[in-house]
Formats: sequence, structure tokens, C-alpha cells
Amino acid sequence: MIIAANFKMNHTRKTTKEYIKKLKKFKDLDSLKIYVFPPSTALDRFDTTINIGAQNAYPAVSGSFTGEIGLEQLNEFNIKTIIIGHSERRHILNETQEFITKKFNFFKENNFTIFYCIGETSKIRESKNTFEYLNEQLIGVDLNYENLILAYEPVWAIGTGKSAKKEDIEEVLEFLSKKTSNPILYGGSVNPSNIKEILSIKNCSGALIGSASLNVEKFCEMINIAKESRC
Ligand code: 13P
Repeated sequence: MIIAANFKMNHTRKTTKEYIKKLKKFKDLDSLKIYVFPPSTALDRFDTTINIGAQNAYPAVSGSFTGEIGLEQLNEFNIKTIIIGHSERRHILNETQEFITKKFNFFKENNFTIFYCIGETSKIRESKNTFEYLNEQLIGVDLNYENLILAYEPVWAIGTGKSAKKEDIEEVLEFLSKKTSNPILYGGSVNPSNIKEILSIKNCSGALIGSASLNVEKFCEMINIAKESRC
């Protein structure tokens, strides 16, 4: 079971350090795979078995890419995990599928664990084109890559406090599980009151959590629930 915290543009270097320190004290973390994605300014070599990942990076070792970080900056802290394809980067920062694929291939070549995110907008869901749309977001992505973790995050459920319905998640995870044998996560308003039900969904290997992960006590509460659940 994988439980991951995506801080997005929240927390500082100082508060991330305090967060990791508290999380490390939390018992039995080893029965689950825990990932934390702080903002890039808070990346560091934390002395912990918790996996620390980057929310984003440019597909190059180093170079003239103002405002970006690349492999050299990630290597400094031994970061080997990255999120690619998050809807906020697709829709707010206008990343194209072509660019996302470039990132995927670059970090695959460098053996990263890749949390690859896909998810439909509410407009697409209403027009009943969800599966077609998700297929488009998988173009150019090697679904057999051994270090791939797929994350289904419907855009309309992200940061809204309203997660997708169990049946809807189940249907999409079923569809994705036919395409890959890698772990598939759900993300979108996961919180302590719905995580149990979400983790019980067939083909669900864990959760990618935004807002509800920002508070370390809340995150630990969800880890506890995950420990008691199915896988
Ligand atoms: P929320 O949990 O805030 O809905 O965010 C989900 C997400 O985008 C994780 O990557």
C-alpha cells in the first residue's frame, strides 16, 4: 500500500523539516510505502526511510532553463522519485502531452520512480468521454516501466473536498488495471473520513493526498487507517 503526500505550493523548508521529523517518530511506517513531495525549495537529504520526491523537474541534467530544477539539483539530495503529468501542471501551467512524455522518458532513463498522474475534467466526464481522454493522457508513456506508479486524479475532485464516488473510481481503476500491472493510486479530496472506503476499492494500491496531507497529524491518521486496511 502506498500513501503519498503532495504538498503542492505549501510548506516551507523549515516546516517541511518539522513535518518529516514528526512523521519519522510515527510507529511502523515500514509496513507501508510512504512518499512525501515537498516544494523544491524544501528538498533535502532527510535521514529517513520515508521516500522524498520532487513535484516537478525539467527533463535535463542542467542548463539554461530559468526557474527550473533538473537532474543535477535532484541528485544533490539523492531524490529518485518524481510526479509527472499532474493536472495542475497540465491545466494551469499548460504542459502538453508531448512535453510530459519527454519528461517521462528522461526520468525513466534515469531510473526514477514516476508517479504519473491522469484525470478527466468535469466537462469531459459529463460528455462521457472519460476513457478516451485518459487514453490520450497515456500516449507515449511506457505502462510496463517497472518504477511506474499510476495515479488517477479526476480534476473535478481535486481540492474540492468532494472525492469521486466509489463506483466511478472503481470503473476507472478497472479500466487502467487492464493496461498495466503497476500500482494504481486514487487522488482527489482523500481525507481521514473517506480513505478507508477508497483503499477498499478493487485495484486501488493507495492514495495521493493533497490538502489533507498538509497537517502531519492528519496524514498520520490516514496512514493508521491504511495500515488496518486490506493490502
Ligand atoms: P487534494 O487531496 O487536495 O484534492 O489534492 C489531490 C492531489 O492533487 C494530489 O496530487
